[in-house]
Formats: sequence, structure tokens, C-alpha cells
Amino acid sequence: MSDSVSVFAEHAHAYHEQRRRIVPCFDAFYGTAVELLGLRDGPVERVLDLGAGTGLMSRAVLSRYPGAEVVLVDGASEMIDRAREQLADARATFVVADLREELPAGPFDAVVSALAIHHLEHEDNRGLLRRVATALRPGGVYVNAEHVAGRTPWLEDSYRRLWRGACRAAGAGEDEIAAAEGRMTMDRSTDVATQLGWMSDAGLEDCDCFFKQLHFAVLAGWRPV
Ligand SMILES: C[S@@+](CC[C@H](N)C(=O)[O-])C[C@H]1O[C@@H](n2cnc3c(N)ncnc32)[C@H](O)[C@@H]1O
Repeated sequence: MSDSVSVFAEHAHAYHEQRRRIVPCFDAFYGTAVELLGLRDGPVERVLDLGAGTGLMSRAVLSRYPGAEVVLVDGASEMIDRAREQLADARATFVVADLREELPAGPFDAVVSALAIHHLEHEDNRGLLRRVATALRPGGVYVNAEHVAGRTPWLEDSYRRLWRGACRAAGAGEDEIAAAEGRMTMDRSTDVATQLGWMSDAGLEDCDCFFKQLHFAVLAGWRPV
């Protein structure tokens, strides 16, 4: 188990409840990601959720596409157990696996992820993107609602200061903010432009950032038809 997985395994019990305090733009962030699934023609019937955790992104997908089948992958069985409880009535498959390994068999209409892939080393991130592009059906979309890095140290510090203020305004306590910052020390976040380049290199087209607030960005690209 990687360090980034074990930290979430320990944190699984408290994770779900505190998300809105730690992701102050929660509704716009997850909402934009889901909206992008329907931007091009084609069904949204089978969706893969990478680093699915307790199932927040899958739940957002299902609220818009209630008939869809979702396949949730996460390395922490404790997180997947919570997802299983949350999605008890859904057409859902739960897979405990590392994102550096083979993905569940496609084709998928969409591959989504939220706040997970930045835990991978950059080369692992790029390898995953290549497997994602192959797992999508032609015309299928990859949407990554991600924690991104500032382009300069000053931007990075500024994002962090503004984020702390937004968390406090959303009701987070200092201990909660400090714990989140502790987890962030393991992040391998990259800036938006770098990630969009990696997505293009993996064979996706029309790659762009469709939402951004401080460290929170929603990136998407499509497999060419
Ligand atoms: C911040 S949580 C995000 C969970 C969920 N996507 C959400 O939006 O709430 C990050 C998740 O990524 C998972 N994760 C981190 N590294 C991983 C890896 N190498 N393989 C599989 N899962 C991983 C963790 O176990 C954790 O559940």
C-alpha cells in the first residue's frame, strides 16, 4: 500500500463529512466535472471513477445519470467500504486496486477522478493517462477534478493562504486545516498547463481546464472518434 493510500485508509471514517469544509468550492467543482460528461454526443452509461474514495464523484455522476453503471477503483479498502455503503442502491462495482496497475476492462463512456491522481508520481500519472485513453470509447471523455499546483512559488503560497481563509469561512477548524495540510505534504500536484500537455501526449483531444479556483481545477479531454 502506498503512503497516500494508507493515510486515507486511516482517515476514511472522518473523510466524507469534512469534505465541504476542506473543498470550499465543492458544488462548482464536482458540478462542473459532471456537466462535462454530457458535452459531446453519446451515451453516459458506463463510467470509471479513479481514486473513488468514499464515492463522492460517483454519487455526483449518478445524480445526473441515475441509470449509469459506475466502476469505482481505490487503493484503500476502508474508503471503498464507505463507498459501498453510500452507493448501496446503485449499479456499482467496487475494486480495491492501485492506480499504477491495470485498469478495469473498458470501454467506458467516461473516466472521472477527483482529488486522487495528484498522489501519483509524475511518470505514474502519465502512464495512467495512457491507459485511460485506451479504456475510453472513441468520443469518450476523461474528466479530472484535481488539486493543481501554482505556476510559481508566490502563486502557490497565495492559493494556500486564500484556501485557509475559505476553509475557515466554510466552518473548518484549525486542527482540520492542519491535518489536511499534513496530508498535502505527500502530494505530487502539477500546474494546469503541464497536465493538459500530458493529456494531449496520451492521445486525448480538446484538452482544457473548464473550472479553476485556487488549487481546485477541472481538466477534461476527449478520445478522438
Ligand atoms: C482525497 S481522496 C479523493 C476521493 C474521492 N475521489 C473524492 O472526490 O472524495 C484520494 C483517494 O485516492 C486514493 N489513492 C491515492 N493514491 C492511490 C493509488 N496509488 N492507487 C489507488 N488509489 C489511490 C486514496 O486511497 C483516496 O481514497
